[in-house]
Amino acid sequence: MPDPTHPLDRRHDAAHHRMPPSAWVYLMGAAVDEHTARWNTARYAELPLLPRVCVDVSDVDTSCTLLGTRLDHPILLAPVALQRLFHPDGEHATLAGAAAAGTLPVISMESSVSLRDLSGAGSPPFWFHLYVQRDRGLTRELVARAEDAGAEALVTTLDTPVAGHRYRQQAAMTQLPDGVRRANLPDDADPRLAGGCLDPSVTWTDIEQLASATRLPVVGKGVLHPDDALRACAAGLAAVVVSNHGGRNLDTAAATVDQLPAVAEALAGRIPVLVDGGIRRGTDVLKAIALGAAAVLIGRPYVWGLATDGADGVRAVVDLLRDELATAMALCGTPRLELVDEKVLAR
Ligand SMILES: Cc1cc2nc3c(=O)[nH]c(=O)nc-3n(C[C@H](O)[C@H](O)[C@H](O)COP(=O)(O)O)c2cc1C
Repeated sequence: MPDPTHPLDRRHDAAHHRMPPSAWVYLMGAAVDEHTARWNTARYAELPLLPRVCVDVSDVDTSCTLLGTRLDHPILLAPVALQRLFHPDGEHATLAGAAAAGTLPVISMESSVSLRDLSGAGSPPFWFHLYVQRDRGLTRELVARAEDAGAEALVTTLDTPVAGHRYRQQAAMTQLPDGVRRANLPDDADPRLAGGCLDPSVTWTDIEQLASATRLPVVGKGVLHPDDALRACAAGLAAVVVSNHGGRNLDTAAATVDQLPAVAEALAGRIPVLVDGGIRRGTDVLKAIALGAAAVLIGRPYVWGLATDGADGVRAVVDLLRDELATAMALCGTPRLELVDEKVLAR
């Protein structure tokens, strides 16, 4: 239930009022009955924390190191396609807002601003997301373009061989509106909003080839099963993201926070585990770290910031979550992320 006094919930409401109805449904919609999208958030709220007292928390440090990069905090921005649907500056604003908030955005392959326009001397750090394309030549070209543009890692999404049934979205918008295009893809690319650039035949062999064909670390996004996480590690991936695509693919798939411990246990520190889906509070970030995540990604919340205030809005959303995380760390007696483990949970 949105809380009219919580700054993030106020952003949610303001974005709802600001955006064209079809863009709002594209952003907020999920698959079929949207149970998984709701569970992602609800399951965090059901996990009780166990505060500790009389620990010196005068100096709380949220910084962490991820794939060799030092970050101010462990809250990254998940790939979200076609951001000019939400704000005229689109991915330009997200990149600037992320840098101002000390974080890394994952720029979607389906971005509405091209990699070429986003990159350049002095441009902030980012990771680039891609689906392996039916046209493997295009996949190789996208990898080369991401390397040239200065991407620091690739994030390949594994969980979408086919698009889910997003009925709410399909009722509102099926094609891209005029003026918004997938700027990294050829002009004659499939104009359907969902499913246009997916290849259902992708297997681990393709993922292995992708990982060995680039000098960049490759992160596999969208695992829920521990065996898939182990397979991703064997394929040469540098990290995995426990994700169900924000509930947009397979409805009633498990909430990500419920699968995170099993994935982290299976990998046993061999490669970092990230998680996304449903993170709306700083306490959710703390719980994810406690259950084995090295970092989290947020999707819809930063778009609420983007839609309401462009780059400043993106920054405000990340700053808010980071601030809540720091407070939760202090109240749980864990002033550094290395000290956070499942003992902060009351179970
Ligand atoms: C509008 C929208 C577009 C998305 N586009 C992509 C995409 O291009 N590639 C991808 O891997 N995930 C995509 N996702 C999924 C997000 O990366 C992420 O997994 C999800 O939004 C996290 O859940 P949250 O929104 O509850 O934070 C998209 C999500 C939304 C809401």
